[in-house]
Amino acid sequence: MPTPISLSTGPGVVRAYGCRYITPPLKRLLAYTLLHNQQHNHSHRPRLPLFSTLSSFHLPPNLNRLLTGDCPFSGMERYWTGSTNNKNKAMVENLRRDGVITSKKVAEVMSTIDRALFVPDECPPYVDSPMPIGYNATISAPHMHATCLQLLQDNLQSGMHALDVGSGTGYLTACFALMVGSQGRVVGVEHIPELVVESIKNIEKSAAAPLLKEGALSIHVGDGRQGWPECAPYDAIHVGAAAPEIPKPLIDQLKPGGRMLIPVGNIFQDLKVVDKNQDGSINVRTETSVRYVPLTSREAQWQG
Ligand SMILES: C[S@@+](CC[C@H](N)C(=O)[O-])C[C@H]1O[C@@H](n2cnc3c(N)ncnc32)[C@H](O)[C@@H]1O
Repeated sequence: MPTPISLSTGPGVVRAYGCRYITPPLKRLLAYTLLHNQQHNHSHRPRLPLFSTLSSFHLPPNLNRLLTGDCPFSGMERYWTGSTNNKNKAMVENLRRDGVITSKKVAEVMSTIDRALFVPDECPPYVDSPMPIGYNATISAPHMHATCLQLLQDNLQSGMHALDVGSGTGYLTACFALMVGSQGRVVGVEHIPELVVESIKNIEKSAAAPLLKEGALSIHVGDGRQGWPECAPYDAIHVGAAAPEIPKPLIDQLKPGGRMLIPVGNIFQDLKVVDKNQDGSINVRTETSVRYVPLTSREAQWQG
């Protein structure tokens, strides 16, 4: 199985899916070195955690922070001690300190859903980077999950309906469920059946387990490009994979007043914020440049 985090065309060009696409020159150089090391690891999944490799450089914390640009690697060493839950809280605190999280509710929800329950054992769960989850897919980076929760927070109020397309590990779907609560409804759609099974197991171990049991949260195998009409319309739709264009069924399943986040593009992608007005017209704006795996067919994803 090819690793989704891989070197593509040469030094300075890094493919890491599920993150903002910002690579300052020094960070690119460092990332190249790290990924080059990983390629010689003869493992399809990178077994060397990024920050343990980083720590072998013995960088002073402030220089470390500078090198990694927007990624809060700098505080990572302090995560080595304390319980898993404290480490998750420290990750959230870093995202708050960096201004990615400004909402108290988003911080509470991300503190409550422990990311370690969703990340494969061999990957460091609290590093601000996408991690491979198999099947040519990734769990998106914490800063990306936080950004999406921030942008959708008004459409994830108690009792609202949300759709998570490409739900992968189920991490963000679980966060959505905590945001809307037991009066709300959250649906995840993922086209790899094995990931659906895993994501349900992950959620069952998490603070969102009661919502799954009650039926306020469900995950389904399906082609997310068709949405999930059974529970439409939705106040919030999140698409966790990049589409060449915005699929019409998703626009149709958005409630008037609803908001959709969707990465659009192929090699160069933009995170689009799609707002549906009360008269059914839509406004689309670009939030930021991103890098996601494609929203595609199961067969095309297998082929990489
Ligand atoms: C970057 S991963 C994000 C997963 C999830 N947001 C997370 O962080 O765990 C994108 C996911 O979209 C899924 N995907 C791609 N195309 C799809 C489609 N047509 N229908 C449903 N899921 C799809 C992939 O299998 C993958 O799990």
